[in-house]
Amino acid sequence: MTSNIRFMDGVKSLKDVDVDGKRVLIRVDFNVPVDSHNNISDDRRIKAALPTINYCIDHNACSITLVTHFGRPKGAYDEKYSLKHIRKRVERLLGKKVVFVDDFEESKDEIATCSLERIFLLENIRFYEGEKKNDETLSKKLASICDIYVNDAFGTSHREHASTFGITNFVDTKVAGFLMMREIEAFSKALEEPVRPIALVIGGAKISTKITLLEAVLKKIDKLIIGGAMSNTFLKALGYDMKKSLYEDEYVQTASKVLKEARLNGVNVYLPVDIVITDNVENPVDVKVVPSQDVLDGFMAVDIGPATVKLFSEAVALSNTIIWNGPMGIYEQDKFSKGTFKLASAIADCYAYTIVGGGDTADAVDRCGESSNFSFISTGGGASLELLEGKILPGFKNLDRKEEY
Ligand code: 3PG
Repeated sequence: MTSNIRFMDGVKSLKDVDVDGKRVLIRVDFNVPVDSHNNISDDRRIKAALPTINYCIDHNACSITLVTHFGRPKGAYDEKYSLKHIRKRVERLLGKKVVFVDDFEESKDEIATCSLERIFLLENIRFYEGEKKNDETLSKKLASICDIYVNDAFGTSHREHASTFGITNFVDTKVAGFLMMREIEAFSKALEEPVRPIALVIGGAKISTKITLLEAVLKKIDKLIIGGAMSNTFLKALGYDMKKSLYEDEYVQTASKVLKEARLNGVNVYLPVDIVITDNVENPVDVKVVPSQDVLDGFMAVDIGPATVKLFSEAVALSNTIIWNGPMGIYEQDKFSKGTFKLASAIADCYAYTIVGGGDTADAVDRCGESSNFSFISTGGGASLELLEGKILPGFKNLDRKEEY
């Protein structure tokens, strides 16, 4: 294993400590998507944290305090981001009563009272200004309501905030939850001990957000498959006129450099050979499939075309490890979802170790019903990207370490 993943794999997990009679604070990531009626549209992040919570219940923790953020409020109370909407689902999935805590400082004594199976859910931690600032005072206050800190918020582990990082300076016992460890294991299998050939399928809107990843992995992979709006910048670098398509002019040079580096490293690059275009994204009436060289005046690329789906499917079929991060088009809209969904099915059918970065890609895989056919689906969007880039995530940095590491 390379040092960074090995470092994160070396942290103590919940099973290395005794929670019996202890007040346990678990930082979870219940930042789940909700619709305009506050219905949770995808509760996988809550389900993924259940093994850690259940372990604490089964091993007689004195109290369990769940801490999470939800959305991006501006450091003050905002009804729209209240976790009141989430509590019931947590209760239902856990099959236990969950006490909602508006203000943890006022409820400090209640949390400290040992009473088996008391589970508390604190109000959105981002209502506190100090959370995102990694403020020492807030970190200390959170530390004061627990004996053991468990970080199981993989989705937020790339953030250096009070509840994901600062708190570790003020708690004696701090460990990773089972979800955190599962994520590290899955990525280390794909990155550190891959069965070759290894393919990276990358999509999404912008090359600028994934350039560090591309630079970091070019020496490790065998195939680079690029789709989504990001591929427009690469096609532009090949000299194609992308007309109204979204691309990053200032990254055309970078794209050329990536293509050159890939060649030098013996990495095969696959770009769209045909694309779906439209003249109007919001109200798509005129939708056509054209060769990537022939985008029409006034039209823009919104998905990969059928020939590209075939090309990409054949490229992944010959791989033994496949990492996918980023959709192939605007999959949220029916007319532009085919490329992403068909590629999802093609990857799911591969006899390979298949791993999906979280965020949009996980959502797309879920929408087309292929979730159970992948080897691993990460719960972290930005976090999995930073992991793939080879960074040590702050959420792991200060946790207790196993002796043998
Ligand atoms: C996510 O959804 O990626 C995590 O919950 C982190 O949220 P953030 O990007 O608002 O920090």
